[in-house]
Amino acid sequence: MKQQLKLPANSPMLDKDFIYGVATASFQIEGGIEHRLPCIWDTFCATPGKIADHSNGAVACNHYQLWQQDIDLIESLGVDAYRLSISWPRLIDEDGELRREGANYYVNLLKRLQQKGIKAFVTLYHWDLPQYLEDQGGWLNRDTAYQFERYATQVAQLFGTLVHSYATLNEPFCSAYLGYEAGIHAPGKTGQANGRKAAHHLLLAHGLALQALQQHAPHAMNGIVLNFTPCYSASEDPKDQEATAFADGYHNDWYLRPIMEGKYPDVIEQLDASCRPDILEGDMATIAQPLDFLGVNFYTRAIYRADEQQPFVQLPPPQPLTDIGWEIYPSALTDLLVGMNKTYTLPPIYITENGAAIDDQVNAGKVADSRRIDYYQRHLNAVNDAMVQGVNVNGYFAWSLMDNFEWAEGYSKRFGIVYVDYSSQTRTLKDSAIAYRQLITTRY
Ligand code: NOJ
Repeated sequence: MKQQLKLPANSPMLDKDFIYGVATASFQIEGGIEHRLPCIWDTFCATPGKIADHSNGAVACNHYQLWQQDIDLIESLGVDAYRLSISWPRLIDEDGELRREGANYYVNLLKRLQQKGIKAFVTLYHWDLPQYLEDQGGWLNRDTAYQFERYATQVAQLFGTLVHSYATLNEPFCSAYLGYEAGIHAPGKTGQANGRKAAHHLLLAHGLALQALQQHAPHAMNGIVLNFTPCYSASEDPKDQEATAFADGYHNDWYLRPIMEGKYPDVIEQLDASCRPDILEGDMATIAQPLDFLGVNFYTRAIYRADEQQPFVQLPPPQPLTDIGWEIYPSALTDLLVGMNKTYTLPPIYITENGAAIDDQVNAGKVADSRRIDYYQRHLNAVNDAMVQGVNVNGYFAWSLMDNFEWAEGYSKRFGIVYVDYSSQTRTLKDSAIAYRQLITTRY
């Protein structure tokens, strides 16, 4: 008998208003780079040694050409919603004006989703910053936040009522920390001062854009998507616990607390003054705009211990792991949601990403990804457990609709519930997609 996804009979996740969706991002699936301006990921991919398999986003899943059949594919899964992102350098020219071809592309795509009754959850920024803005400093330049506000206004005016929900940013932690502090994502800059500055400008950009969205797209549900990697202490030693709390403030709460309470977590006081961002008057109030929703991306947890040389050290993850090396630890999702709900007055929550990279194979037209189904099963239960404990979760999105360009890992890591054969651009439903469809379509 086929492996199924199941929830308890009385689960609030079986309610007809609970939204199920699939998610993607522009750079990871579109290709069609000759139809847009260059972005920082094009440049990063062209830099030797940055991408594990030396690949790039030139073709990706060729969704730029295949978008109609891909929407049919989404429809065939029976989902309520599709979370996608808009490529800023496809939509806006260097002079700040709309690019006609890009505008038509996205309007047609959104119209088709609307015709099919699939709700569009649109992310404005999923990491593909126009290269010309990076040439002016990118997220280290405060002006990029104001450029983003303008872009958000243009998007809202262009798309009108085609969009159900806007997220300003996807995972600003990754843009700021991985991109400007650790240097393992585009644009590959490093240093704590850079990372913290980029984070502040991203948060400011979020606040400015959210105001623009509330003004120009008041019908839409507007918010932000943050990633969380809950921090666990390696031991009960108070030193390890302190180090773990520092890591949590530095990696997770750095993004949530400013939005919820208009202030950075206390760890900011422990940073060297030269590494703290310049915070201008009014910035924190701008950042703390009320959200219509908070998107939560969750994949794994991290374990920390204290260290003499640095504020914290992350331990290698214990088994079991997915094929990207991330520990499978679903109860961290329940703990995260329940904990956030105690600490903050939360808006409605959507799980905007959750999923597993598995080294899939196609056999006789089938992909038997039972480990992915198991991952989904355990994480759906984890969300259910949080809801039972009072967390207001309104939806869940599988990452990802289909295999795609996994950033610094290139195409070597497959997160899709649909398999992509990159040489023929054939899509094959994996068993996880069939199980997901079954769960969604037999809800009530
Ligand atoms: C986070 C990102 O939003 C997405 O782009 C990425 O592919 C997945 N998580 C998996 O790493």
